[in-house]
Amino acid sequence: MKALVTGISGFVGSHMAEYLLAKGIEVVGTIRQRSMKDHIAHIENDIKLVECELRDPISVEQLIDRERPELIFHLAAQSFVPTSWNSPIDTIHNNVAGQIHLFEAIRRFKLPTKVQIACSSEEYGQVEPSEVPIREDNPLRPLSPYAVSKVAQDYLGYQYFRSYGIHVIRTRTFNHTGPRRGEGFVTSNFAKQIAEIEKGLRPPVIHVGNLQAKRDFTDVRDIVHGYWLALERGTPGECYNLASGSCCTIEYMLQLLLTLTDIEVEIQEDPQRMRPSDVEILLGSSDKFHADTGWKPEIPFKQTMTDLLNYWRAK
Ligand code: GDD
Repeated sequence: MKALVTGISGFVGSHMAEYLLAKGIEVVGTIRQRSMKDHIAHIENDIKLVECELRDPISVEQLIDRERPELIFHLAAQSFVPTSWNSPIDTIHNNVAGQIHLFEAIRRFKLPTKVQIACSSEEYGQVEPSEVPIREDNPLRPLSPYAVSKVAQDYLGYQYFRSYGIHVIRTRTFNHTGPRRGEGFVTSNFAKQIAEIEKGLRPPVIHVGNLQAKRDFTDVRDIVHGYWLALERGTPGECYNLASGSCCTIEYMLQLLLTLTDIEVEIQEDPQRMRPSDVEILLGSSDKFHADTGWKPEIPFKQTMTDLLNYWRAK
């Protein structure tokens, strides 16, 4: 069986590739011209890398025609919320056009390909206290251009299933982290700062943004297992939350990281790290996904954060 992973050199893409290889699946992955290949250097000989700009319909059509994968894990995206405020159109274009081109190619060649699309809990946006844990039928009230791009991807998935019968599974994934998480994202950012303070590379001050936001974290290795199950057992056209079912403040996450180190630090708020509107709370119910696929996260949060901190210590 052949699987195509878009954005294979990214954080989730690299874990997805490892997971598929361990299952004996043939893996093809898309990268862009200037993609860094650090995350996949250790498996580069076991996978096929294809340079493909997903915003270019012709490249995507040629790729799909040539490879004709049975499975697609569509993970390529501009995934950092703050970037989406700096250049909203790039995020929208990147995330929406790339997916449309994939769908159009699958439609054109009438392929039976199963496609998982990486949607996001950010789509829920403004969540009322009475709405947690959030279920799939909660209203979507996106609070960032990134979130809007994910709503568009999500609804396009629904529409292509309804209009053309394409086997699309929409996974709405809550926050996920682990080794290789990009340094901009909060868990990785704080872990990297701690590792650098430990090495004496910076003064013992941790710069932070909004510590009161609450997030529901799952280990990326549990998430990629979920993506596999989504295509193996999920119902086409459906959307599924992937979440741990518990949440914590960002402050709690920082304190947890600080229990894993001996250094004493000062915590300093950085106004640059504040967002025009931040999602206050994301706490998801993955009961529906569990009922359809049997998935549940296995890796404890403390383990995830330990592995992430050790990743930065080894850099
Ligand atoms: N990045 C960052 N840096 N966030 C900070 C910081 C900081 O120094 N301090 C506090 N935060 C807060 C943010 O304001 C936000 O409330 C929370 O920490 C998490 O921020 P991120 O790690 O940047 O993730 P996110 O929640 O905005 O988005 C992530 O999760 C989504 C799923 O809910 C990303 O992985 C998205 O791609 C994903 O879709």
